[in-house]
Amino acid sequence: MASFFSNAHSSALITLSPLLLLLLVSAAESQCTKKPVIFNFGDSNSDTGGLVAGLGFPVNPPNGRTFFRRSTGRLSDGRLLIDFLCQSLNASLLSPYLDSLTGNKFTNGANFAVVGSSTLPKYVPFSLNIQLMQFLHFKSRTLELVTAGSESFVNDEGFRNALYMIDIGQNDLADSFAKNLSYVQVIKRIPSITIQIKNAIKTLYDEGGRNFWIHNTGPLGCLPQKLSLVQLKDLDPYGCLSSYNAAAALFNEALRRLSQEMRSELKDANIVYVDIYAIKYDLIANSTKYGFSSPLMACCGYGGPPYNYDIRVTCGQPGYQVCKEGSQFISWDGIHFTDAANSIIASKVLSMNYSTPRQKFDFFCRS
Ligand SMILES: *[C@@H]1O[C@H](CO)[C@@H](O)[C@H](O)[C@H]1NC(C)=O
Ligand SMILES: *[C@@H]1O[C@H](CO)[C@@H](O)[C@H](O)[C@H]1NC(C)=O
Ligand SMILES: *[C@@H]1O[C@H](CO)[C@@H](O)[C@H](O)[C@H]1NC(C)=O
Ligand SMILES: *[C@@H]1O[C@H](CO)[C@@H](O)[C@H](O)[C@H]1NC(C)=O
Repeated sequence: MASFFSNAHSSALITLSPLLLLLLVSAAESQCTKKPVIFNFGDSNSDTGGLVAGLGFPVNPPNGRTFFRRSTGRLSDGRLLIDFLCQSLNASLLSPYLDSLTGNKFTNGANFAVVGSSTLPKYVPFSLNIQLMQFLHFKSRTLELVTAGSESFVNDEGFRNALYMIDIGQNDLADSFAKNLSYVQVIKRIPSITIQIKNAIKTLYDEGGRNFWIHNTGPLGCLPQKLSLVQLKDLDPYGCLSSYNAAAALFNEALRRLSQEMRSELKDANIVYVDIYAIKYDLIANSTKYGFSSPLMACCGYGGPPYNYDIRVTCGQPGYQVCKEGSQFISWDGIHFTDAANSIIASKVLSMNYSTPRQKFDFFCRS
């Protein structure tokens, strides 16, 4: 493995792949006629620096090495899916709500997502419910400032036309498994998770929000972290944990049905459900087609094959090992995806092939 992995301090040199450069260039084409405003709620899959801003909890290099060339608090070597989606609108990347030093005054929205967040328990930072409460405060304070004459902040119309994105649930499932609950016990908790998401959509709707973008959860059983921690492995044909993936799929089915219900209940709302699971599972199952070599191995971690994950030496902690070419890996740190993987995931999301209803991502900022 010596040629594959370099020591933590020996190599920080990374190159941008031509594919990524292409994506960056084409991302400048936006159909938006209104300034896009986005509010996002979620966990580490879409945390653009909230954990660091909120708790000061360090996210060390090599996180960020590929794209930002410094750690931004994102758990990836580069951009997250939400960053690529913002770029597709030619919009600035979303600042974490808790970032008091943000330069843009949240003129294009705010990101409430924080690493580790789940829907339950409800009153623990930074659960979905707490993120919602933060949003309600943010909104009333912002509108106060607008009334007082501040023009740069999002106004009432901006809140109404904004896109409300939700990407949460992975930690609810993962935490349940981690507590040694049986598969049956884990799936019994699914309705209590999805009801939280339903309540969040209703709250935002009652506040005037009409545009929703819901990501379902990825194949939990394909994460190198889970694969390395679970002792008794029930593996599927691609080497992923069947029970974990089955639970994720059941959660997604509940979320899909919920989205459908909400669509008929809230007639004037646009609720788009995006099948992230299918995108990620395809990426892993057909990894070579997409140019990835070891779909179940983390680029940054410890221990080498098969998973390069060790809970005692995680990415950025003393002693970690990191691959040379992150662009050949799907998994960055055993839990989160690389810039290269997120770029492909984003292009799939933008294709509409995985969206119900088939709605372009920029639907909310076109008139
Ligand atoms: C994208 O944003 C940049 C910088 O704000 C601007 O110069 C450019 O015209 C925008 N492009 C499109 C296609 O909206
Ligand atoms: C989970 O169960 C396994 C095997 O029964 C046991 O070794 C482990 O300590 C348990 N973990 C927790 C967190 O209870
Ligand atoms: C892998 O790719 C093939 C061909 O495109 C597709 O039919 C199949 O569904 C993919 N596998 C998964 C698990 O998505
Ligand atoms: C979306 O689906 C169309 C029609 O099946 C296909 O031609 C296209 O390649 C797909 N795009 C992506 C990004 O999967």
